[in-house]
Amino acid sequence: MEDLFTSLLISTALFLLLFSPSVAVDNIAANQVIKDGETIVSAGEMYEMGFFSPANSNNRYLGIWFKKTAMGTVVWVANRDLPISDTSGTFKVSSEGLLLLSYCDDTVIWSSTCSTFVRYINPVAQLLDTGNFVVKDGNSTDQTDLIWQSFDYPGDTWLPGMKFGKDFVAGVNRNLTSWKSTNDPSVGQYVNYVDTNGYPQMLLRQGLVVRLRVGPWNGMRFSGLPDEIPNPIYSIDYAINQKEIYYKYDLTSSSVVQMVHLTWDGIIEMMHWNNRSQDWFVYATGPVDTCGRYGICGPYGSCDINKNPPCSCMDGFEPKRPDEWSMADWSSGCRFRTPLDCQAPEVFWKIRGMKFPDTRQSWYDHSMTLGECEIACRKNCSCTAYANIDVRRGGSGCLLWFGALMDLKVCGESQYLYIRMPASLLKDDGLTISQSGFNKKIRVLTVTLSISLVLLGMSLAAYVCNKKKKRSSTQGRGHRVYAFDKRDSNVVKEDIELNFISLSKVVKATNNFSIDNKLGQGGFGPVYKGVLESGEEIAVKKLSETSEQGYGEFYNEVVCVARLQHRNLVKLLGYCMDGNERILIYEYLSNKSLDLHLFDETKSSMLEWPLRLDIIRGIAKGILYLHQDSRHRIIHRDLKASNILLDHDMNPKISDFGLAREFGGDQMTAKTKKVVGTHGYISPEYAIHGRFSVKSDVFSFGVLVLEMVSGKKNREFSHEDVNDNLLGHTWRLYTESKYVELMCPSFRNSCIVSEVKRTIHVGLLCVQNLAQDRPTMSYVVRMLSGNSALPPPKQPAFFVGEDLPNPGLFSAGVDEASITTLEPR
Ligand SMILES: *[C@@H]1O[C@H](CO)[C@@H](O)[C@H](O)[C@H]1NC(C)=O
Ligand SMILES: *[C@@H]1O[C@H](CO)[C@@H](O)[C@H](O)[C@H]1NC(C)=O
Repeated sequence: MEDLFTSLLISTALFLLLFSPSVAVDNIAANQVIKDGETIVSAGEMYEMGFFSPANSNNRYLGIWFKKTAMGTVVWVANRDLPISDTSGTFKVSSEGLLLLSYCDDTVIWSSTCSTFVRYINPVAQLLDTGNFVVKDGNSTDQTDLIWQSFDYPGDTWLPGMKFGKDFVAGVNRNLTSWKSTNDPSVGQYVNYVDTNGYPQMLLRQGLVVRLRVGPWNGMRFSGLPDEIPNPIYSIDYAINQKEIYYKYDLTSSSVVQMVHLTWDGIIEMMHWNNRSQDWFVYATGPVDTCGRYGICGPYGSCDINKNPPCSCMDGFEPKRPDEWSMADWSSGCRFRTPLDCQAPEVFWKIRGMKFPDTRQSWYDHSMTLGECEIACRKNCSCTAYANIDVRRGGSGCLLWFGALMDLKVCGESQYLYIRMPASLLKDDGLTISQSGFNKKIRVLTVTLSISLVLLGMSLAAYVCNKKKKRSSTQGRGHRVYAFDKRDSNVVKEDIELNFISLSKVVKATNNFSIDNKLGQGGFGPVYKGVLESGEEIAVKKLSETSEQGYGEFYNEVVCVARLQHRNLVKLLGYCMDGNERILIYEYLSNKSLDLHLFDETKSSMLEWPLRLDIIRGIAKGILYLHQDSRHRIIHRDLKASNILLDHDMNPKISDFGLAREFGGDQMTAKTKKVVGTHGYISPEYAIHGRFSVKSDVFSFGVLVLEMVSGKKNREFSHEDVNDNLLGHTWRLYTESKYVELMCPSFRNSCIVSEVKRTIHVGLLCVQNLAQDRPTMSYVVRMLSGNSALPPPKQPAFFVGEDLPNPGLFSAGVDEASITTLEPR
């Protein structure tokens, strides 16, 4: 998706080059006509306004885009839903101060709205260096007195200085609405807006379904966002009064180019332009992880991303529908063990470390004290919690919640929340009115339930697939699959288009699986290159015939894999099923696999440091998606250089994912009898005890990182020092602060030593011996893109070294069959 976005930017930029502006002014007078092909440019050349076409489209839109930097990224579009199909478009500001967009001899297709009917003597319009296009009265001396401004009507981009929220006086509601697709600016499914039912907070909605919630603002930051996120580049301004409610951010340095962008598929990206790589650098996204998904744990359920499963009930609560909870469907949430009853004595449980609940059913008063707030809450039987609104100056204001508390998330929140509880629960549970952090107070259900939850949580993917199976069998063999998401009341959410490709076509495309077409041997069978009749290049993976899967199971697995879509995962295009043949068809990536570049003397010289780091970051994001962001938690289990493919722009794409679990039956349980994986990349606990978790992938990733930096294969590494494998060697250099020696000579000239050091450090954190010491992928991604201090690594696991005589020897409890799968492929 980001790929497309980038290509959109590039093609937009290319397009713009063809139409260099002939009118380099930043303003137009009333009735001055600007034609398609002409543009106006802001004074400092930051922005340009005129007509453009998105990539692969001939439609013409009036828009504003970056000029000097950011390769023409479009930030605003006037006629989003009303494109002009030819180049006859013109625009002007009428004498009434309206921005008019016309085509074919003055047929007005779009115009700005105007709230008043004042006639202006002398309207003029100007494109400012902030990206705001303003229309004002040329005779007015008040610069802030605007007739109209594009900042009041944002599209999918929130620029610095732009107020986001509501202006009750002017009657404008400034929100972000996504494009329909990367190349279609018309209004799409997602809207990100300030919700003012109750205390204001930011919501992201897909149609009517809330997907993400940010906030509320507590005077210093958005509740739930970690304190430690450094923001040296911008400051946030928040206003709430009778006239308006808004958030605004301003850059502290004018050299930074920054924006918030809502992608067509509902991701909020905060990004800044990186001049060195000439690309947008996305430094924060929402939803970030499972717990970022709105209300995943239901009412009173609390989400903790460091737990598996992430949802649990707070103290004093129990799952409302234990049967559903045990099946990893948490949407029904939790309920009090003893119901709240306004007659019985009640107390408020003081907790912190929790993102404030959804405030859509809330009431607030900025002048009340905490004491008054408690009294107000006690008085009303439907009040379920209260808190200070503002954390500054020891806390002020009163926020009351009514009804079940929704969207609770464990985080570093330091502000206290007071939850109403039946007093009897305190006695029964030995709860105290807690002063301690919330984290310590969470208890996970009953023991039996939690064990089954862990097991089931881990096989969530399998579960979803099974659920799927039932659905699709009732739907027949249609190629279009509707996936149901139970959390949504309005049923159909996604539809995945999966192509069935007939065996004869596959045979033709691959020249009857000719040996000349063979690209390699993947995890589950050979891979061939093919060319479809349309000319599209594909990679065809022929699964080993030993698989005993039936049509239905295979089909459902394929559907699951097809749903995993991320720019750093190889894309599944279709499948084929005929007799015993089970074939998967993937996109073909022209630069083949990473190992061919990394471990090849000539090719590795092309892998300069910035590219290496980009590849590492891309892989990390792909794994993070598998672990957290996709609907199912997927553990890859065979991450290695040869499973990372590179597209023509050298973007890394993880391959061989998602299928790992299906060909071994019970492999998604926490312990497996059959170890798949590759010598040199597998973690000690997995190799020795068959225990795997997301942390075994983190280990493999760490090995990969160190290979990327050193240019050496872990399993073939040798050094004059005895018993020193790549991990040990790196550790020694780290302890002696001689990192630089690890660097592969081929990129020494292009490297930034501090980045290399940081990367090695992250690699070492990932290969620590104990799984619990290794960071999660979300932390890895943050470490790889930030500057915060890193924890010191402990000594890595050494067992993968030269000193290991034979993989079979450390496979206690591993059956014979696994030895073959342990071999490098
Ligand atoms: C977003 O803004 C538009 C235009 O002001 C408005 O019509 C729409 O209702 C807003 N949507 C939400 C969810 O606030
Ligand atoms: C309690 O608060 C709710 C929500 O503000 C309100 O509708 C209801 O009337 C209140 N009840 C009482 C008894 O004040």
